[in-house]
Amino acid sequence: MNGRRVLLGVCGGIAAYKAAALASRIVQRGADLDVILTAEAQHFIGAATFAALARRRVWTSMWERTEEIPHIALVRAAEVFAIVPATANVIAKLAQGIADDLLTNAALAARIPIVIAPAMNTAMLEHPATVANLRTLEARGVTIVAPESGFLAERETGAGRLAGEDAIMDAIEATLARTRDLAGERVLITAGPTREPIDPVRFLSNASTGTMGIELAREALARGATVDLVLGPTSVVPPSGAQVDRVTTAREMERAALARAPGATIAIATAAVADWRPAETHASKVKKTDDPQSLALERNPDILAALGARKNGTFLVGFAAETDAHEANAREKLVRKHLDAIAVNDVSGERGFGAGDSALTVLWGNGGRRELPSASKRVLAGGLWDTIVTIRRETRA
Ligand code: CTP
Repeated sequence: MNGRRVLLGVCGGIAAYKAAALASRIVQRGADLDVILTAEAQHFIGAATFAALARRRVWTSMWERTEEIPHIALVRAAEVFAIVPATANVIAKLAQGIADDLLTNAALAARIPIVIAPAMNTAMLEHPATVANLRTLEARGVTIVAPESGFLAERETGAGRLAGEDAIMDAIEATLARTRDLAGERVLITAGPTREPIDPVRFLSNASTGTMGIELAREALARGATVDLVLGPTSVVPPSGAQVDRVTTAREMERAALARAPGATIAIATAAVADWRPAETHASKVKKTDDPQSLALERNPDILAALGARKNGTFLVGFAAETDAHEANAREKLVRKHLDAIAVNDVSGERGFGAGDSALTVLWGNGGRRELPSASKRVLAGGLWDTIVTIRRETRA
């Protein structure tokens, strides 16, 4: 943590006093610490305590006069925002995007990772509203340090006690490590569907939205990489930090991907490339009275195989959308396309394409395997990058 920049937000719960011990640990580990206290937190603990620990002013209001706008400046200066303890009320505000004080404004303005450690009475923790709010935050990639069961302020035992200091420190440290683990890498990602025109208004395509590739791009940027994203037609908005090449057909996608490939240290093919295109594209709209009897198709290039055939030190990751014999099929693709890893997506039944949850199994080398359980694509993207970083570290060692 030495030299790293941590922003700590403290909410109004009895566990607020424990945030002082945490602040002390963070400072002892050599980090630079800024602290925001909500108005409610100050009923439990004073700003002077945190000012003494952090050796700097503590932030308590949107309206303190400073050179800069405090909520923006604080999250821009920090590398991680830890909210400890996080009350049910603040969790609800974060989930809804409500910003009515300095802490919630800072959270809404944060492009840095957020770690929250909830603490509250068992009934509040188990309330369906809180459960849903925590799930929303988790799906957005917020790290939640789960509360423990233990003695509560109500002099009863139950779930809702703030997680232990070690668990919170571990979560903050792991999050900080993740913000840099792709520094210096140049990542190429193909994403989205392709469209293969039949005539000016009709095309062959598929239901891909590009969400997985877009989330991988967002996560790679957050971890310090430079990102080239070759993106087929989608209305999902890519992250602003990526260099985005918008393409329509498989052949355009291949051209753009091969042009970017030589500089890439890691390439991931998430695109759902149309395997075939109409052999003929009509210049004018085909009339229904033309009554075509059949549509002749031609094979599209396999972009991933082309990247594999040309690769020169690039760590190449493919996806496999399978409905049957997942792992055997994927292992075969791993070898045939010269991949370093493959992420298998079970697209049978309801799962697979779109913005919903899905699960992945990552396969590599001779028997390397990691399961990423069902989660939002944002969370899966984090898990896939963790896996890629681990495999590269192992294979280099
Ligand atoms: N892919 C690609 N270009 C294509 C087809 C696929 O780059 N023309 C990439 C996808 O982005 C994905 C991987 O290849 O990373 C696997 O695609 P998939 O369609 O599952 O497998 P195929 O190799 O096409 O084999 P099959 O259709 O037999 O399952």
